[in-house]
This record gives sequence, C-alpha cells and structure tokens, in this order.
Amino acid sequence: MLLSAQLPAYRPVSYSRVTLTELMIPSYANFGGKIHGGILLSLMDKVAYAAASKHAGNYCVTVSVDGVNFLQPVEVGELVSLLASVNYVGRTSLLVGIKVIAEDVRSGTVKHTNTCYFTMVAKDDAGKPTPVPGLELETVEDTRRFVEAIKRREFKEQYNREFDNVRNALIVEHQHYDLTQERCRIAYPENQ
Ligand SMILES: CC(C)(COP(=O)(O)OP(=O)(O)OC[C@H]1O[C@@H](n2cnc3c(N)ncnc32)[C@H](O)[C@@H]1OP(=O)(O)O)[C@@H](O)C(=O)NCCC(=O)NCCS
Repeated sequence: MLLSAQLPAYRPVSYSRVTLTELMIPSYANFGGKIHGGILLSLMDKVAYAAASKHAGNYCVTVSVDGVNFLQPVEVGELVSLLASVNYVGRTSLLVGIKVIAEDVRSGTVKHTNTCYFTMVAKDDAGKPTPVPGLELETVEDTRRFVEAIKRREFKEQYNREFDNVRNALIVEHQHYDLTQERCRIAYPENQ
C-alpha cells in the first residue's frame, strides 16, 4: 500500500488518543432541563474527527456511527469528557472508539454515560479516500479493541445482509396479524 511521502507506515495508538472536555451550559439543555442528545453527538463527532485525522495525517469524514445510546441523562453544570482512540484501521477507514463520562464537579461523582464507535474515512486533497498508516498496538488492551473491531464489523455486515433478506421478503399484508399485538391501528381499506 502506497502512503504519501510524509506519512509513516505505522502510528501508535497513543499518538492520536484525544480527550475533549466541555462544561454543560444551560443553553445546551432541552425543555426538561437535560442536555440535548444532539449536543453530545456533535461533541462525539468532533473528538472522532480529532483522533482520526491525527492518525491519518489527513482530514477525515464521518461514514457511520454505531452504539449511540443515551441511557443516562446528562445535567447542566456537569463536565462531560469524551475519551477517543483509534481502535482499528482498514486501508482508508478508521474506527474510533469514544467513551463518554459526565462528572458532577461538586460531588465528584463520575458516570459513564455511553461508549460508541465512529467509522471515519481519510480523504486526500481531491476528496478521494486515501490510505492511512497502520496501527501500532502498544498494549494488550489495544489489541483487544482491534480484534473486537474486526468482530464488530463482521457482525454488522452479517446483520445488514440478513436484514436486507428479511426486508426484501416482506409482504406487508402478511404482517397484519402480528400488528394486532402492537399499539397501532390500520386506518385505510385492507386491499388498498
Ligand atoms: C464514505 C465514502 C468516502 C466512501 O466512498 P467510496 O468511493 O465508496 O470509497 P470506498 O468504497 O473506497 O470506501 C472507502 C472506505 O470506506 C469504507 N466504507 C464505505 N462505506 C462504508 C459504510 N457504510 N460503513 C463503514 N465503512 C464504509 C470502505 O470499507 C472503505 O474502507 P477501507 O479503505 O478501510 O477498506 C463516501 O461515501 C463519502 O464521502 N461519503 C460522505 C461522507 C461525509 O461527507 N460525511 C460527513 C457527514 S455528511
């Protein structure tokens, strides 16, 4: 694989590890007083970009996002930190793992709100995908994450394939009985 002259063949995981910390201010809150999910998504995208572009030595674009679940609310006044590292690299793509924690500065309580994965692709000046350096795994944990990323990608591909099959075979009328178990009602004639 040809890399541009300035790029090394490998870069260590630690080279591109990034932490982004931001105070949750009142203008980030929704009507319920909790932080908007979109604010957190935007911070995740920024930190993923920072880690990926540092490793790639080029600017990167976000291709897909996996594992974003907002299971615990984040409050105004909390310090949110996003810890990002490149977990895996392909030829031009990188998988960035992001751990999100929120800290109540008065009590010192820290909660782990979410871990998610951003797939980024490095682009050259012409906007075409461009090769990235390999990943030098410095710890057993780095290797665990790399292997896990391979498995995650395999499962996602398998899921997408199987779901496509299910969707292609779907006949909506045959689902009417199942829908009687759901909280919906059909408001159009049956043979429409
Ligand atoms: C993602 C993108 C670069 C793929 O372009 P492409 O011409 O299809 O390029 P390739 O087929 O060579 O794929 C490039 C890499 O992206 C990966 N990729 C493409 N689609 C993907 C997907 N849906 N999920 C994960 N990875 C994907 C490929 O596996 C490949 O990785 P590799 O080089 O490590 O093997 C292109 O679709 C794009 O630019 N999308 C817009 C991204 C963007 O602007 N994001 C900002 C938000 S709007």
